[in-house]
Amino acid sequence: MPTLGVNIDHVATVRQARLTNEPDPVWAATLAELGGADGITLHLREDRRHIQERDLHLMRQTVAVKLNLELACDEEVVAIACEARPYQVTLVPERREEVTTEGGLDVVGNPKRVSEAVKRLQDTGIVVSLFLDPDPAQIEAGIQTGATAVELHTGAYAHASANYDAEEELNTLILAGEQVTSANLTLHSGHGLTYRNVGPIAAIPHMCELNIGHSIIARAIMVGLERAVRDMKRLITG
Ligand code: PXP
Repeated sequence: MPTLGVNIDHVATVRQARLTNEPDPVWAATLAELGGADGITLHLREDRRHIQERDLHLMRQTVAVKLNLELACDEEVVAIACEARPYQVTLVPERREEVTTEGGLDVVGNPKRVSEAVKRLQDTGIVVSLFLDPDPAQIEAGIQTGATAVELHTGAYAHASANYDAEEELNTLILAGEQVTSANLTLHSGHGLTYRNVGPIAAIPHMCELNIGHSIIARAIMVGLERAVRDMKRLITG
């Protein structure tokens, strides 16, 4: 059975919308842990649009489950990771104009850059995972970097499942999973997974870790809003 890494970036996005101190992703990480999260995932983007270095440093001290830091293969953030030493780093591509991570890492096009980042992180004792599209050429190049794990990008599957037509994308992910595990790398998946589409992904043989953010935070707003309004109403009306 796969473990669940809860991505708390979306909590930080709400905080940054007002440049205030709430909601605090550090609190969210603690609550996710209380709810049974096996890991906390956060993405320190180059543009710092949601998670800040302060969040990483506090979570490094407060999170007791596995801390998974998503990073671009960029000198500045790799150095921050080597200093902070989270349990795991997942290397992801990053473009400033994107709404979220839109595709897997291009290892075929940048083998040296990715391998150097993998080695540097592993030398400080960090487990390294690569976020890749379920594309045989990218996975083969990823295996060659010496990374420990591959996180398969489930975005295309998620998109197809919203249109009730996910069988082909699911088969692609199953084959990609076989390629990853037969090379003795650990298999992770994430992106766009929801309460409705997660089942078949969790059932892929040897699936070890799922990283899920948006759908969990979206549900948290819905299951928590009624109580939040009631608490405010009580303060106003006495
Ligand atoms: N895995 C990776 C590598 C990601 O970049 C993201 C999004 O930050 C996720 C998982 C979680 O995706 P979602 O928020 O769609 O669940």
